[in-house]
Amino acid sequence: MQKPAALPKNPNFSSGPCAKRPGWSFEALKDAPLGRSHRAKVGKAKLKLAIELTREVLQVPADYRIGIVPASDTGAVEMAMWSLLGSRPVDALAWESFGEGWVTDILKQLKLKDTRVLKAPYGEISDLASVNFDNDVIFTWNGTTSGVRVPNGDWIAADRKGLTFADSTSAAFAQRLDWQKLDVVTFSWQKALGGEGAHGVLILSPRAVERLESYTPAWPMPKIFRMTKGGKVIEGIFQGETINTPSMLCVEDYIDALSWAKGLGGLDGLVARADANTKVLADWVAKSGWAAFLAKDASIRSNTSVCLKVIDPAIASRSAEDQAAFAKKLAALLEKEKAAYDIGAYRDAPPGLRVWCGATVEASDVALLTQWLDWAFATAKAELAA
Ligand SMILES: Cc1ncc(COP(=O)(O)O)c(C=O)c1O
Repeated sequence: MQKPAALPKNPNFSSGPCAKRPGWSFEALKDAPLGRSHRAKVGKAKLKLAIELTREVLQVPADYRIGIVPASDTGAVEMAMWSLLGSRPVDALAWESFGEGWVTDILKQLKLKDTRVLKAPYGEISDLASVNFDNDVIFTWNGTTSGVRVPNGDWIAADRKGLTFADSTSAAFAQRLDWQKLDVVTFSWQKALGGEGAHGVLILSPRAVERLESYTPAWPMPKIFRMTKGGKVIEGIFQGETINTPSMLCVEDYIDALSWAKGLGGLDGLVARADANTKVLADWVAKSGWAAFLAKDASIRSNTSVCLKVIDPAIASRSAEDQAAFAKKLAALLEKEKAAYDIGAYRDAPPGLRVWCGATVEASDVALLTQWLDWAFATAKAELAA
């Protein structure tokens, strides 16, 4: 098979850090107050602006608090779990690697015995109908390593007694989060807006704040996780007074990304772009003859971290090791040709490919990528037969 004539303009299809917005350059960072204190007026104003733009673009309710916290999405999730869990039993949902990671923390680190784990294999989702909302409930809105997301927030009880925790790092800015059903939402900047790693965002509902102020966990709380003082929430954290020093370069970049998102029409524009990118891939999958989605059911299929598997019988009939080697070969061929970087399946996931379709990716590039996917498949299969 002949190589396609054109390469994607931007071959960055990684699922994190994700492609920077179209047109991004270092020029976007020129107003960063470098060398200044983040507690100076100028630094605090930037952090506050980042919070305000986050609220506007994500349509976060006015009474929810938004904080910029250390250690990316992991930091935000850990901070929330260590600060809030332990007062009620927990339902922990896991259908891929990151959800499983939070389960491990709850069982092995926090050692919360009264925990129910609702697991599902890669490509499927936990039984949402069996969740007990008297309990605290933790789940991943979009499972980045399997390309399976929750269909919406309808399954979450409006009159719940427990808190809901949604790790939304690969959903925010591409999918609609149902705020009234969520008490704790986390994400990092390196995902759907193509920002930089390092910082996380933690969003708390009024009920989550009530829990913070009425419950003290049995375990010690490191300074980096501490959100209360004298039994009261530290409001400054949610107004840009970060717990420790942030990178003002990352903050500037996040503000740039949010401004770009606003220019697209905000959340509607972002969701539309991610949906359009995913549709290009779905239309191609339907006629490829060799690829299929890992998520069989379209209602739970991600529009960001789209996971694919090889279903061509000549490959799919082979051992798991051979299938993994074949998928790796595809990714390596595409990288060598500069057609796509970092699209191998996550290390714990079934063998295959994962293509990021969030809003910073252009549909025209996804279309070009599909031609390269067919080329890589034909090339790798021919090598196998030789
Ligand atoms: C669902 C999910 N949770 C957590 C993480 C960890 O994110 P970070 O590296 O930003 O802490 C990732 C990263 O890909 C993720 O996809």
